[in-house]
Formats: sequence, C-alpha cells, structure tokens
Amino acid sequence: MSQDARSTAILVPGKLHPHVIDRLSHEFELVRIDRSDKALITPELAAKVQGIASATLISAEFIDALPKLEIIAHFGVGYDPVDAGHAASKNICVTHTPDVLSDEVADTAIGLLLNTLRELPQAEAYLRAGRWEKEGPYRLTAGSLRGRRVGIYGMGRIGLAVARRLEGFGVEISYHNRRQVPGVAYLYHPTLLDMARAVDTLICVVPSTPETEKTVGTEIFTALGPQGVFVNVGRGATVDETALIEALKTRTILAAGLDVFTNEPHVPEELLALENASLLPHVASASVKTRTMMADLVVDNLLNWFTAGQAITAVPE
Ligand code: DGY
Repeated sequence: MSQDARSTAILVPGKLHPHVIDRLSHEFELVRIDRSDKALITPELAAKVQGIASATLISAEFIDALPKLEIIAHFGVGYDPVDAGHAASKNICVTHTPDVLSDEVADTAIGLLLNTLRELPQAEAYLRAGRWEKEGPYRLTAGSLRGRRVGIYGMGRIGLAVARRLEGFGVEISYHNRRQVPGVAYLYHPTLLDMARAVDTLICVVPSTPETEKTVGTEIFTALGPQGVFVNVGRGATVDETALIEALKTRTILAAGLDVFTNEPHVPEELLALENASLLPHVASASVKTRTMMADLVVDNLLNWFTAGQAITAVPE
C-alpha cells in the first residue's frame, strides 16, 4: 500500500477509456495485455502487477495468476464482470464507479420510456424516408406517458434519479427493492410480482446478482398486462429474454425499451425484428462527461489505495 505510486505496476487487460490510460501512464507503471486471459500473464507480470484497471471479465483464475494483486478498479457501476467474492476471499479490494453516472443512466431510462410509448425513433425514420410528405402524418401512438403507474425495480442511486425525473411527468411512482429505503416516500412493494400487478410500466435498474437473475419473466409480463411497458437500463441477466420476446410478439405487453441484453453485444434477431422494442447498444452512461468522470474515479481509487491505503468507492461487502 502506502508507497511511491510510480513504481507500482497497474495492468489494463483489453480496451479501456483513453483518459484512464492517459492518467495511469502518468501516475503508475502501466502494463497492457490484449485480454484478461491468464495465459497472457508472464512470470514477469505475475511478479509485479499490484492493481488492475478494467471493464472486462476478471475471473477467479485470472486473479489467482497475479499473486501480488491488491486492488481491481472496475470501470462501471455494475461490477458483475469481476469475481468480487473470490477477490474478497483473498483480501483484494474491488472498486466501481457509482454516483457519477446516475444522472446519465436515469436520463436514458426516461428516453427509452418516451421512445417506446411515443414511437419517436419510428416517427423519425418515417420522416427521413420521405413518407410524411407522401403519405401524411405519422400514425397516432397507442401509448402515452401521462397517467401511467410506474414501478421502479431497484431503489439505489439510479432508481432514485429515475423517480425524481418521473415526478415531472404526472405519473404514479412506486418501487420494489430488497429492503424498503428509509426516507423514500414512494409506495413500496415488498415483492416484484405485487408491484407488477399494481403498475403498467416497469423500469428495471437492478444490478446483476444471483438474487436478481431472470427475476423478470412471463409472470411479471402477464401481470403488467397489454398496456405494459418494460424498460431495462440495469442488466440483461435480470430478464428472461425468451419470455420477453414472446411477451412482445404476443402483445402480452405493449412495448419494451432496452439498453442491456443477455449476451452483449449479441442481440437476438427476433428482438431486432420487433417494432414494439426500442433498442440501444448499452449506452446509458456513454457521454464524454460521464465516462471521463468514471475514468477519473477508476484512477483516483488506485491512487488513493496505493498512497493512502484506502479506496474511495469500494464495492459493498
Ligand atoms: C455500468 O457502469 O454498469 C453501466 O452499465 C455502464 O453503462
């Protein structure tokens, strides 16, 4: 820990935001390899790497290949790519980048909600194709936002940022979370199914954990009903994607807006073919401003660890 950071080797496996690379190369000895594959760890790397900065999969095997490793600084708030349990068992600190991206992700959730209900991407495509002039106005949309009952699945920082934004839209807001959150006045539902039965719009912001895996499936879509809208800016693993495709095809629900998928960057053909799905390539936090703040937090976590012996935003235990 407390040492000259410049003599500390930080490994970056694969691609990472250029601002992280730039700052790391000034502050530390930067070591790069193509991917997080333990076969790429030479004895020389194993003997010196003390930190990792990355946004990719960091497995138990990879961790074990680096005996001097003290800290893994993950670029992102959702740290599901890191085997954090294994890291903890070896007293290796794992950090992530909360807070700095909450506003951007919440904005994206609202954007997807408006896209699905008001068909904004389809209406723009209609205009660009010259159809407005030839065929007249774009069709009236089946959905609208005002008067909806919106349930937020996950009431952490991002869930709260989504709720605050929704307050201006004339909707009813409720939430489901592992625990009721003190000081949050929106209606709390102890189970996801209870909430799905009470709302017509579900916004998912939960992280990927064994507890949340595939928790949104057929039963939830059926409960949302034919006016149901599902928005996901959390993780694809939370949803049974096959059940979602079926629900959209059969109009069990009205529409879905998705920024995340089960096997990114693969998006199932069936989903791509559906008109009632608004799809984004996992861009919720992807603005220059936010990604730069995330990059700074990755480097500041490493710096704080190696100079003061403490991370700034370690993941929860
Ligand atoms: C994260 O940081 O986990 C987000 O998914 C990035 O958009």
